Amino acid sequence: MTPSKKLSERRAFLTFLAASPVLAYSGFSSRWVDEVLAAPLPQQNEFVIKSVKEALNVFDFDAAARVKLTPAHYTFITDGSFNNETLRANREGFDKYEVRLRRLTGITTVDQSVKLFGKTWESPIFFSPVGRMSAYYPDGAVVLARAAKATRTLQILSGSAVVLIDPTGIENVVAARGEPVWLAGLGSTLDEKAIRRFESTGCPVLVWTIDDGGANTIGAKSLQRAGVRDLEREADDRCVGCHSNLPKISRISPSTPMDVLGSIGSLQGETSVKLNWDDVKRVRNMTRMKLVLKGIVAGEDAALAVKHGVDGIIVSNHGGHEDASGRGTIECLPEIVSAVGGKIPVLIDSGFRGGADIYKALALGATAVGVGRPHIWGLAAFGQEGVETVIAILRRELQAIMAQTGAATLAQIRRDSLIPRG
Ligand SMILES: Cc1cc2nc3c(=O)[nH]c(=O)nc-3n(C[C@H](O)[C@H](O)[C@H](O)COP(=O)(O)O)c2cc1C
Repeated sequence: MTPSKKLSERRAFLTFLAASPVLAYSGFSSRWVDEVLAAPLPQQNEFVIKSVKEALNVFDFDAAARVKLTPAHYTFITDGSFNNETLRANREGFDKYEVRLRRLTGITTVDQSVKLFGKTWESPIFFSPVGRMSAYYPDGAVVLARAAKATRTLQILSGSAVVLIDPTGIENVVAARGEPVWLAGLGSTLDEKAIRRFESTGCPVLVWTIDDGGANTIGAKSLQRAGVRDLEREADDRCVGCHSNLPKISRISPSTPMDVLGSIGSLQGETSVKLNWDDVKRVRNMTRMKLVLKGIVAGEDAALAVKHGVDGIIVSNHGGHEDASGRGTIECLPEIVSAVGGKIPVLIDSGFRGGADIYKALALGATAVGVGRPHIWGLAAFGQEGVETVIAILRRELQAIMAQTGAATLAQIRRDSLIPRG
């Protein structure tokens, strides 16, 4: 149904209600109906929830995060690269599959637990690594770790989430999580020093992100061009911790912090494009941590990963943050699952926003599904409680669709419960 049709039907119902004696009997005046009719109904992304209890789905946390964050930080999270082709494709990819439901399945409980590298997790939904977490909430990575602990969720910590600004950052996250976390290193910055540092924290799984490509992320840069600068950062506790240390810790300069957000060109800087499979061999031989490659989007590369002794794959395009392929990860998944042939687990992220999206990936053979922006929205909007609510909503939605398809466990999710939309 189109939004305007929905609106007119709602108005028709309210008008009917206003004329009904039921309203008078129940002690209401019809004036509130007139007031409701007079006000335009907000779209979901215009309505800002004030507490997690009001959240209807994960998109409610987007608007709530928007009002809490500086324009540059919010734009950086939200935007994709180039003209958002891949960002859009990630969402549109889900429309290419329909879920074939069954009735009277008799399912009364759903077990979402999943085993990865010998450890069992409560659900297949995990937190994808996000850099510079303190830009979104004070001590963001630690607060996320508390939410991960409370919900028994797999958290992949981005090396750049904490290492850039705090030499003991990983230890603080591990202490909050109560156990070592998976750590993600980015492209060519993952050198031997970083690997030894990760090992020293007890990290069981090294995630190597290999999809950063010098994206043309124009959002934050266009804010800068229009004259919006993050002047408030100097007075804001959330900002000074990072921005006052900028020259020491990163390429971002204190006077033009948005510059890094729009780097163009895959052969400039330290991007993964310059790496090759000998680098994978080198890293594989350097450590006994499990090695997971994040950013694989083609079957041939998945087969090469298996050949090079990689322990797992995350099908990812960085949430549309790094390329202009226009190809959603859900569309890449079947060829990767087929190339891997069950030899190693295939995880996936990019664009997942609801239980049905997650279900579709699991039915296509994914072992686990990551979310990036949704947990950052939750964190930015309501801290730990926001993250926990995002996870709770996604789990409830996944539970509903599993029960409706007759799957009481992840193993019972059937490939033929998905049909391509004709
Ligand atoms: C603001 C932001 C920062 C990110 N930082 C990292 C990072 O440091 N390392 C990494 O491997 N992926 C990073 N990613 C990509 C996420 O791990 C993940 O692949 C992506 O967010 C999933 O898509 P979604 O946001 O649509 O759920 C980042 C994504 C966003 C939106």
